[in-house]
Amino acid sequence: MRILITADLHYDIARSREPTEALARRAIETGGDCLVLVGDSAGRAIGPLRACLRLFADFSGRKLLVPGNHCLWCNPDEDSLDRYERILPAAAWEEGFAVLDHEPVVCDGVGLVGSVGWYDYSLRDHSLDIPLPFYEAKVSPGAAARLDEHDDLFDAHRHTLTDRHLTFGARWMDGVHVRLPFTDEQFVDLLAHKLARQLADVSARSDRVVALLHHLPFERLVPDSRPERLAFAAAYMGARRFGEVLLACDKLTHVYCGHSHWPARRRIGGVKVVNIGSTYTHKHLEVLDLVAGRCESVRASTARSQPETAPRG
Ligand SMILES: [Fe+2]
Ligand SMILES: [Fe+2]
Repeated sequence: MRILITADLHYDIARSREPTEALARRAIETGGDCLVLVGDSAGRAIGPLRACLRLFADFSGRKLLVPGNHCLWCNPDEDSLDRYERILPAAAWEEGFAVLDHEPVVCDGVGLVGSVGWYDYSLRDHSLDIPLPFYEAKVSPGAAARLDEHDDLFDAHRHTLTDRHLTFGARWMDGVHVRLPFTDEQFVDLLAHKLARQLADVSARSDRVVALLHHLPFERLVPDSRPERLAFAAAYMGARRFGEVLLACDKLTHVYCGHSHWPARRRIGGVKVVNIGSTYTHKHLEVLDLVAGRCESVRASTARSQPETAPRG
């Protein structure tokens, strides 16, 4: 049983195209029983997503998709939940992919579960001491100070903000492009319950379980050597809640994620946890070969500029 896994292909972004095409050729050459794209395959426009999925048309195994936050970016007249539940699965289906979040798989005794995951600010850098409403608005104090639409937020907290708070000038662009009918915490709750149900379901029908989440389920995966200007973004890396749900499954052996654009390999609670770590210019393909009992990483060559090491909203 060989599973190929990659993430953050961002095929809608010009500098990601060539490395994504190289990675797709590598995946087809390598071959396997399943291929899973773990989020951020493209962005708001559906055309580049379809074009990305089509690159894998000659992959002969089962093809599975996990959406990322960028996949939930939507047009002003759209809703991200509708994209998640209806629009993305329909487009994926037409290109030969199934959305793993909605259809867990059992193949040769291996259960595969997936989730976009999400964030509830539980992984934020508490040492920054930024008031929670800024995280909820997805805008740092320095950005709120210069953006008219956040005048009320800034004014409400002006008296508590320090000079250091104002040095953080980033915003998380999900705040502009994602529209959900509930809060981030409620979305995490909904997804965590769904993941728990799916883990119970596939556990009963398989010998081992592999989970694939776009966002980070463990704090130990949050990049700790990032530049300080990126510290605000830690809040949007993921949620502890998913890690708790995953570790409650005693058949879980591997977890894969993406999103941070920062590679990591950890062993957490006896589970092997891998962050694929693709960036906009360097894509990674992970090969999980369960017959041989090993897990190896293959890098698709992308000889461009220096690797980027930071996600952008
Ligand atoms: Fe990404
Ligand atoms: Fe992402």
